[in-house]
Amino acid sequence: MASVQNQSSKDKLIIFDTTLRDGEQSPGVTLNADDKIQLARALSRLGVDVLEAGFPVASPGDFNAVQRIAREVGPLMEGRDKIGKPMVIAGLARAVEKDIRTAYDAVKDAPLKRIHIFLATSDIHLKFKLKISREQCVARAIEFVRLGRSLCEDIEFSPEDAGRSDPDFLCEVLAAVIEAGATTLNIPDTVGYNTPSEYGARIKYLIDNTAGSEKAIWSTHCHNDLGLATANTLAGITNGARQVEVTINGIGERAGNTALEEVVMNIHTHPNTYPVHHTINTVHFARVSQMVADLSGMPVQPNKAIVGKNAFLHESGIHQDGVLKNKETYEIIRPEDVGVVTNNLVLGKHSGRNAFRSRLTDLGYTDIDQDLLQSAFDEFKRLADQKQQITDSDIIALVSDQMNVA
Ligand code: KIV
Ligand code: ZN
Repeated sequence: MASVQNQSSKDKLIIFDTTLRDGEQSPGVTLNADDKIQLARALSRLGVDVLEAGFPVASPGDFNAVQRIAREVGPLMEGRDKIGKPMVIAGLARAVEKDIRTAYDAVKDAPLKRIHIFLATSDIHLKFKLKISREQCVARAIEFVRLGRSLCEDIEFSPEDAGRSDPDFLCEVLAAVIEAGATTLNIPDTVGYNTPSEYGARIKYLIDNTAGSEKAIWSTHCHNDLGLATANTLAGITNGARQVEVTINGIGERAGNTALEEVVMNIHTHPNTYPVHHTINTVHFARVSQMVADLSGMPVQPNKAIVGKNAFLHESGIHQDGVLKNKETYEIIRPEDVGVVTNNLVLGKHSGRNAFRSRLTDLGYTDIDQDLLQSAFDEFKRLADQKQQITDSDIIALVSDQMNVA
């Protein structure tokens, strides 16, 4: 394995979690204030840098939840020694005066706060949704970023549908908002339209061609309509983005957002490929993923990367045998690194004798003789033809049957 670059020589990647805002926009998901507080605490301990707590103007309930998070979770330092500061609490706002003032009111009691202002820039959105010209779009962006900046030092600007916006027009808008005081520039592929090479090239083009680009942090925000959100986000990092907008389990509008755990474990697995380091405490992944699934009512698909229940299970005999001999034969991530501690061998009809014997040892059958092992294994194979997964109780039952026969 190649040696790992010195972490301190790398740029810090800012993890901006939007599970409570874009994630909550998943069809059918509503989180109440208590759910949000519980999740916000877990995300703080996980090591998230910026938490988008909600869209305060959307409803009094959302305002309340964001305000409570700013007050109750905003100051917390538990589990954040490596990061050295509390989470930045962000509130989303359209480029509209009422939204911006409301977002600020909701986050203002957090020690670190941000207003995140968005305005669409693609011709299709300007023409059909906002019904304004490009010139009016630039003027509106400047006016409302200035207003935001008069209230709060930390201003993020997102040109909505940037993935389908004219790159030169984006450069014009982004240069104008940097001048007006924006400190983070987020590039949303709102409809998940870009390919990884396109999205990466877009980030590079914007950084290279926007006046004043070095004054801002560049950020990715990718949707998963074509299943490319993680790949696009990683391409963004390769091309200069130093903040990623992500959600736990990848929940979000339509096919969802980029999954936080996937981006972080890609960086963890390929430390020499990505020129960044992060301060996420990955051992919390399994627990936080489960919490999001329970509170959102959106179960995680079993084969989901990193946090799916099958992500570290090995069913076939050949794989089980390999893993028993050396885990690295079929595992590129150590399950314990993401908080998975369960027995990772599922016994089924493809399992071999080695895996069966190993499970018997785990169950306390340490001195079983060869004949008994063979008859129990034959019995297990017969049962496995009828049942998809064999539980520990099935094994205990069939071993005692064989012991009685013998
Ligand atoms: O996908 C999107 O464009 C958004 C913006 C509000 C950032 O979620
Ligand atoms: Zn989004």
